[in-house]
Amino acid sequence: MNYIDATDYKLEVGNIEKSSFSELLTSYENCKKVIIVDENTHQFCLSYLITTFSELSKAEVVMIPEGEENKQMEIVFSVWEALTEYDVSRSDLVINLGGGMVTDMGGFIASCFKRGLAFINIPTSLLGMVDASIGGKTGINLGHFKNQIGVFSNPQAVFIDIKFLSTLPEEEFMSGYAEMLKHGLISNKDLFETIVKQMEQPTKLDENLLLDIITVKNEIVKKDPLETGHRKLLNFGHTIGHVIEGHYMETINLSHGHSIALGMLMEAFISMNHSLLNEEMYNTIEKSIMLYFAFPKFSDEDIKSMISMLSNDKKNKHGKISCCLLSDIGECTYDNVVTEIIFTETFLHFKSLQVNLN
Ligand SMILES: NC(=O)c1ccc[n+]([C@@H]2O[C@H](COP(=O)([O-])OP(=O)(O)OC[C@H]3O[C@@H](n4cnc5c(N)ncnc54)[C@H](O)[C@@H]3O)[C@@H](O)[C@H]2O)c1
Repeated sequence: MNYIDATDYKLEVGNIEKSSFSELLTSYENCKKVIIVDENTHQFCLSYLITTFSELSKAEVVMIPEGEENKQMEIVFSVWEALTEYDVSRSDLVINLGGGMVTDMGGFIASCFKRGLAFINIPTSLLGMVDASIGGKTGINLGHFKNQIGVFSNPQAVFIDIKFLSTLPEEEFMSGYAEMLKHGLISNKDLFETIVKQMEQPTKLDENLLLDIITVKNEIVKKDPLETGHRKLLNFGHTIGHVIEGHYMETINLSHGHSIALGMLMEAFISMNHSLLNEEMYNTIEKSIMLYFAFPKFSDEDIKSMISMLSNDKKNKHGKISCCLLSDIGECTYDNVVTEIIFTETFLHFKSLQVNLN
């Protein structure tokens, strides 16, 4: 078992049966436990958890519909109503069993209900393990705008066990690898290269690599838990990635990681055009991303709509759009103001490269 020093919660990586999960459940012995799952984690992950941990035999289960388009307020209301029906009080416990959608939304649900219930994250997707379940960001989308409503709120604990990945579809692995690439691109060239190599065998994940990636995220968050500065680095690829994800949410429905991969490539392109990143490094990034992640066919209308969505980005200040830019693989800066004209030119450049995903 690997115990990682997180800000003020337990972060354990390894076999959950050997972790302190059972002990933690025992400390909630006389409390209600509610497990939040989506349709897939209900099918693939729930029975293992309940049959392995007898402390959960009486747990209530709340199932939400799967998919990013359901990370919305209506679903939050329905879960709050269920918690009310189950008479859940502030001393009770929520367990989020799922990918980033479940941990983001379940964390938000728990953090606001009766001014805050304790919650535990058990991520079941690769993206959840390397990113979403760690660091205390919880929230939901507002229409097409990603994560517009939310709070910083740490779980009691996060238990990361790769056995849950055995049922994860390969394309969801790739979504997780996109966020892993981001961790490499912003922090360490060798790590980036190791991830690129690992992507050749996506489902045969090396646990040591997983641990390294989790450590990168955890260390960044520890330095700046509320994202006043350094933590903004984790938003590399997200200024553009979030508008791509939001724009296509109800049509071709690109995964979070896929959208972020495209966002990273486009933000790397802007970095090169700002003479920050040299062409050779840009080409390396382009090659590794284009091999696995295709672009949708942007129409002029799509571009117009996405550019207008950029003005609502959470990172904007005084009406200016800012994003992270790379000066090398492993070196990134944040709070770079980029004009709408540059973003538009970038979308137009990638429009000419596209493979039709629609
Ligand atoms: N809070 C943060 O710091 C943070 C960071 C990055 C991403 N996110 C958020 O995370 C979300 C993306 O996470 P995600 O990719 O895990 O999305 P997700 O939770 O929607 O999971 C992706 C798909 O995999 C399925 N799935 C999950 N685990 C499975 C398993 N073990 N077996 C079979 N199917 C399984 C899900 O049901 C879903 O269909 C986005 O909402 C994004 O905004 C949050």
